[in-house]
This record gives sequence, structure tokens and C-alpha cells, in this order.
Amino acid sequence: MRTEQPKMIYLKDYQAPEYLIDETHLTFELFEDHTLVHAQLVMRRNPARGAGLPPLVLDGQQLELLSVALGDVTLTPTDYLLTPDQLTVQPLAPSFTLDSTVRIHPETNTALEGLYKSSGMFCTQCEAEGFRKITYYLDRPDVMSKFTTTLSADKQKFPILLSNGNPIASGPEEGDRHWATWEDPFMKPAYLFALVAGDLWCVEDKFTTMSQREVTLRIYVEPENIDKCQHAMNSLKKSMRWDEEVYGREYDLDIFMIVAVNDFNMGAMENKGLNIFNSSCVLARAETATDAAHQRVEAVVAHEYFHNWSGNRVTCRDWFQLSLKEGFTVFRDAEFSADMNSRTVKRIEDVAYLRTHQFAEDAGPMAHAVRPDSFIEISNFYTLTVYEKGSEVVRMIRTLLGADGFRKGSDLYFERHDGQAVTCDDFIKAMEDANGVELTQFKRWYSQAGTPRLAVSEAYDAAAKTYSLTFRQSYPATPDKQEKQPFVIPVELGLLNAQGGEIALRLAGEAAAAGTTRVISVTEAEQTFTFVDIAEQPLPSLLRGFSAPVKLSFPYNRDQLMFLMQHDSDGFNRWEAGQQLSVQVLQEMIGQHQRGEALVMDQRLVTALGSVLADETLDQAMVAEMLSLPGEAYLTEISEVADVDAIHAARDFARKQLADQLFDGLWARYEGNRALSKTTAYVAEDQHFARRSLQNIALSYLMLSGKPQVLAAAIEQFDAADNMTERMTALAVLVNSPFSDEKAKALAVFAENFKDNPLVMDQWFSVQAGSTLPGGLQRTKALMEHPAFNLKNPNKVRALVGAFAGQNLINFHAADGSGYRFLADLVIQLNGFNPQIASRQLAPLTRWRKYDSARQALMKGELERIRASGELSSDVFEVVSKSLA
Ligand code: TRP
Ligand code: ZN
Repeated sequence: MRTEQPKMIYLKDYQAPEYLIDETHLTFELFEDHTLVHAQLVMRRNPARGAGLPPLVLDGQQLELLSVALGDVTLTPTDYLLTPDQLTVQPLAPSFTLDSTVRIHPETNTALEGLYKSSGMFCTQCEAEGFRKITYYLDRPDVMSKFTTTLSADKQKFPILLSNGNPIASGPEEGDRHWATWEDPFMKPAYLFALVAGDLWCVEDKFTTMSQREVTLRIYVEPENIDKCQHAMNSLKKSMRWDEEVYGREYDLDIFMIVAVNDFNMGAMENKGLNIFNSSCVLARAETATDAAHQRVEAVVAHEYFHNWSGNRVTCRDWFQLSLKEGFTVFRDAEFSADMNSRTVKRIEDVAYLRTHQFAEDAGPMAHAVRPDSFIEISNFYTLTVYEKGSEVVRMIRTLLGADGFRKGSDLYFERHDGQAVTCDDFIKAMEDANGVELTQFKRWYSQAGTPRLAVSEAYDAAAKTYSLTFRQSYPATPDKQEKQPFVIPVELGLLNAQGGEIALRLAGEAAAAGTTRVISVTEAEQTFTFVDIAEQPLPSLLRGFSAPVKLSFPYNRDQLMFLMQHDSDGFNRWEAGQQLSVQVLQEMIGQHQRGEALVMDQRLVTALGSVLADETLDQAMVAEMLSLPGEAYLTEISEVADVDAIHAARDFARKQLADQLFDGLWARYEGNRALSKTTAYVAEDQHFARRSLQNIALSYLMLSGKPQVLAAAIEQFDAADNMTERMTALAVLVNSPFSDEKAKALAVFAENFKDNPLVMDQWFSVQAGSTLPGGLQRTKALMEHPAFNLKNPNKVRALVGAFAGQNLINFHAADGSGYRFLADLVIQLNGFNPQIASRQLAPLTRWRKYDSARQALMKGELERIRASGELSSDVFEVVSKSLA
């Protein structure tokens, strides 16, 4: 809970620390009903801040101070100033040691920040500002220190004692206790500190680095999960090799550990040498985890591992620079996943996610730049903008510099700043210096919020054989009311001729054509590019691979989109053309619904998707992606005012039309792939993911036909599948079907079989809370009473509340406001014990501007009710107050 009025913190106020901490020696005595933390800090005046000895102000929250000493002198309460957030002492010399002992209570820590207990084990989460709940410290990322950590605990209950770095000593203690000491040779900020004590088993492996050093790899889990670690271990080894090959980055300690915990606010955490993971991002095996879950494990393991360089060896100066490590690391993990799986499919998934969720954030009351310039609560800035848009910004740099130039830049960045806490400007400077270029204008991507629009128009001059494209940038208003300057927008493009071939691209003034696909940089508010030697009116393929995070518009007609779907040489843009065609068709039907007309679907969409479905030469995962209509959340995002009912009705109608008209093609794809599944053992690899994704999307369409043969197929797949991907899809189609007996039976069988596996039960909760059939709120409320549900566990909250409010739009936005009331009640409750989760669950209510006035009033009413509900955490306070501003 907040202890003072929350106040805004500004980037412009940044000052280097007054003091530095060269060494940090910690001792934890872990007991059932309290923990004692002794800290010895070897400190000195920061020479960069000049002479003089100002007061030393240490951060600390919820700590019971038992003793504090400066050097040999124990301080008495008159020697220091203690507030709920700070301890202030007066150093008497430029170099000194500070010793403190505090008592803390991990056993009652429900916020899951600092030291806490999860399923009986002790663990920590210090990013961003959790270390101050462990001991008094300079809890800021530009204070880097060498840590040694000693833990002592009951030997029976906590046989495993872990911290960062290398183990250097251990032994028994009198009684039933034992101890261990770890030393981390690398300087690090406190947010990378970690500790684990528990009864854990581990899977061990070895990795030989590129300079032939042998590293021990361990994944620690609760004993019953020891059979679900192999996929994460394989992912880790692949990540380590990939970072050597693609970035020249080698691992630096003798041991690398991952620990899986059940109660975790986010996905995972990159603590030096001791990554702590949400168990949902570690555990995976065929029987219990879907293909999507396997891919997520691979991506998150890679992400956290990659932070060892992009985040740990080179860290952030202050939290405004968060995207320095997160945007870059998301870009790195996305490229890794693209190399391990289908590159085009990975890009499609990421772009669909960005455009649905990040664009919505960028258009809402919490919109902020990739490098924000103010915040109240930093935990609220672990956002889609900082992560996903931040990654797009790094991707654009690579697009502009080319792969080799980008590598030169990253080499210089890592070399120049190893061991330092730096800024986004330092990252850009390394890219500039290594390539002899200037990125001054480009840096606006870091400081200007909101999604730029890029309107494109064409002009063909048959006589002169020139083709001109004119680009116009515009910028939506953002809460900061900032005047925007033009961005540098790299647009990768090609031109297609009437046969679907690619035209050589030569800009006016150039001596020769430079290939058939190229990147042009739009740098002005309005800018025209003229291509010469263009013998016929071409069709442009714009923003290939989604080369910039903008809303591009070009007046394509539906026949042109169908043409691009078939002929574009860029796989991403083939998918994109299909999405644009679907959007046009769906928007037409949304209009029909609003005017009270019968829905009629443009047959061209059926034809286009029918030929995709019939094309045996296409990657099956691409077929699956192309068959997926834009989601309701995306249709909401691109609407001026979203009509929840019309969007849902139009999309449902379109799906039913496609199911009926493409039944035979879908059935053939379904049957063929299901037959293969029966004869092939489960493999968590690309071609198998692809096959199952087409099989499963086919099944979900087919089920809409209501035909008995499909019901039988779904039941067969549910009963007989040897993997969770097929079983879960079968369950989902049954849950979303009108066959209530079969649905009830499948749900009961599933719950009985998996009642002891919390991660599988999360999926069982989600599929029901996410079902768009009527009665979603009642179902969700009833499930909250289920014995496997637990409000204290973030995964459960996300599975049930997140799925209902985030994915089940038609039910959440019920016209009577019942969904809003439910969510607000929950946020008020969560605020009392886990502010970070409370604040994240609030997101759907912050989107109120998108809806009709009646819904707006209801949503704002709930935000106001939260605001008035009593003592708000700084997390919830910031989101609610900005949403109502
Ligand atoms: N740095 C983590 C990552 O890899 C993010 C994170 C994990 C986090 N746990 C957190 C952020 C808790 C805030 C609070 O992205
Ligand atoms: Zn990260």
C-alpha cells in the first residue's frame, strides 16, 4: 500500500547517485514466521557528484529496522531519520561501511514483490523496486555492486539454497539448519538480485561455450514437475548457441540456473545467473502443454537468457530507459524464434498482437513514449509500448542499417558499455558511431507517443512511364498533448505488374534499378517518391514485413487485395492483404447490422480463402493464419466508435458462412492432418506446429456447421489425442458449441484428469471464461468458486478474469454494465493484496473512449468507484486517475 501521496517522477530530474556501493554482503536467516536480513554495504561518495558529504538517503519499505551502524558505531534513533520509505544517515567520511539488520515477513507477502513464499518455497522478485522491501539500499539501477549472499534455513524443508553467481561455501548449522554462500563476480544493480530456498529437484545439463568453457545448466522445479523440463532445457541450449552465432555473446558464469515458481506477477525474471520463472513459462510436455505454450517457453527462456547481455552486463541508468533492455531483448527473442520456427508466421503473430494491443494502448489514456518522460509507479510501465513497440524501434534500426551494420553497432554497444548503466541515447550513439550515420530524427520514436498514420496515394504517368507514391504522416493526439514532429518511417516496398511479377525499382535520379524490393525512408510530413521505367500501371506492395509500426492506408479495392493475396512475393503482405480484405468485408457487414439489414457477405472473401485452403503448396501454418479472421479486439481498435454487438454479429456470421461454404475443403484438411496426428508421435517442432494449427482452425470452423460428423470428430479428438494441443482445441470447440451434454461431459472428464495440474486447470478456466456464448459473467463467477481457483495466484486471475474481460468482449461489454461492475469489484479486492496484478487487470476499463456513450458512462462510473474505494496502491491510483483525466 502506498505510504505517501503518490508523486510524479520525471526523467528531466535525473541525477547521478550521491553515493556508490562497491560491495554488498547479505545474510538471510529464513524462518517460518519471519526473516532476518543483515546487510553490510561497502560505500563511498560518488566522485562524479563532487566533494562534501550530503546525507545518505536509503530506500526501504515495510522493513522493521533492528540495528544500523556506520563503521564501528551503532546508531541510535536520534542519529538517523526513518520514514515509511527511507532511512537517512549522515556519513562522516568519504568511504565507510554501513551495517543494518531488518526483520521482514515473506510468509505474509501477497504482493509477490521483494522476498515472498510460493508453494512453500522462498523466492524473490526485485525488478523494478522490490529490493527496497528486502533491505535498506540505494535501490536504483545505476548503483551497481558486487554481491555476496549467505542464506540459512531449515535443512529438511529447504535443502536447496540458491543465489546469484557461483556457490563458494556451505555447511551445517547447529539444530536442523544449514547455510550456503554465493558470490557474484559481476557488478549488478539490486533489481537483478535473487534468492531461492526450497525443496526442489533439478534437471542438469552442460553447455560448452564458443571459447570452450563448460557451463552447468540447471532447471529447478517442484519434484512432481521434473518430467516437464526438457523442452525448456533444449530451448536454453539453443538460445546460448544462437546468441554466440548471431551476436557474438558468450555466457560468463560457471553455472546458469532457472527456477520455476507458481506465484509470479509476470512471465519471468533475468536475475544474474538465477532466472526465476513463472512455472507457465518453463513447464511443457506434450500431454499437458499446447504448441503455443511450447513456443512461449522457448521464447521466454531465450528472452531471459538474452538479458544476460542486453540488461545485465549492460544495464539501464534509470527506469525511463527500460526499453533499452526490454525493447532490444524482445527484438532479440523474436529473431531467435523466427530462426527456430517459421519466420513469416512469427512475424504475422507479433504484428497481429502489436496492432491489436499496443495500438490500443497507444490510443488510450495510458499512452506513453517508448522512453516515457514521467511516471508515478514504474511497475505500470512494463507495457506493450516499452516491450513490443520498443522492439519494433530496434527492428527499424536494423532495417535502416542492414544486418551487418546493425551487428557492428551492437558489438560496439556491448564493448563500449560493458559493466555500465546506460541510456537509450547511448544505444543509438553506438549504432551511429559504428556505421558513420546520424539517427537524430529517428530518435523521435523514443520520445513521441501514439501510433503515426501514413496515408499513401499513387499517380501513374503512362506517357512518362513514371509511378509516384506520396506519403503523408499524421499523428493522433496523445494525453501529453505533445506537438509531433515527423518520424523516420522505413517503408519496405515492391511493385507488382499485371502478371503478379515484381518490377525493377529505380527511383528518379538513380543510375540503375536496385532490385525488386527495397526500403525507402519517409522522413517528411509529406513526401513523394517517383519510380521511373515503369511500363504499366503497377500495384504497390507496401510496408512489407511490417517495416514500421504505423497505420498505413492505401485505397486498395477488393480485387487488388485478392491479387496481392495470391501474388505478393512477401509472405507477410500476402497475409496482410487477406486481413485488409476481411476487414473491408466485415466492416460492410457491421454497417448492415447497424442499419438493421440482413447480413450479406461479399463472396470474394469466400473465393479468396477457398483458394488459400486448396493450395497444397503453401505452408500449412500460413494457411491457418490466412484463414483466421481479424479478431474482435482488432476490429474494435480500428473503429472510431466500436459497436460491440455489430462486430460480434458480423464476425460470427462470416465464420459461419465460411464454415458452410468451405466445408469440404476444411474437412479434407482436418481429416488428413488428424490422421497424421494419430500415426505420428508428438514433436514440438515447426512443421508439426504448422500441421496441427491448420487441423485445429479447420475443426473450429467445421464445428460451426453443427453437423454430427464434426461433433463425432471433436469427441474423438478430445478422447484420443495424445497431446494438449489437440485435446484443448477439441475441448474449446465443444465448449463453444450448442451441444450441452457433450460439453458438460468433456469439461468434467478434463477437470478430473487434470485436477492436480494447476497449469492445465488454468487452461480449463480460460476456455470457459473466454467462451462468447451468452452467460459469460455467470460462468466466470461460478468458476471463481471452484476449489482449483485462487485469487492470490496471478496465473489463476489471468486465466479467469483476464480471459473474461480481455478476450470475451461480447460478454464483458454487456449493455447493463454487469461485466464492468464485476471487474471493478475485483480490482478493488486485488488492490488490497497485489497492486501490480490489480493494475494490470484494470486495462480493459481504460479503453472506455472506444465505446458508445452509454457504455462510456458505465465504464467511467466503475473507474470512479474504484477511485473512491479507499486506499489505493500507487499502481491502481496512477491508472485510474490517468484514465479519468
Ligand atoms: N524483466 C522482466 C522481463 O524479462 C520483467 C519482470 C519480471 C517484471 N517480473 C517483474 C517487471 C515484476 C515488473 C515486476 O521482462
Ligand atoms: Zn525482459
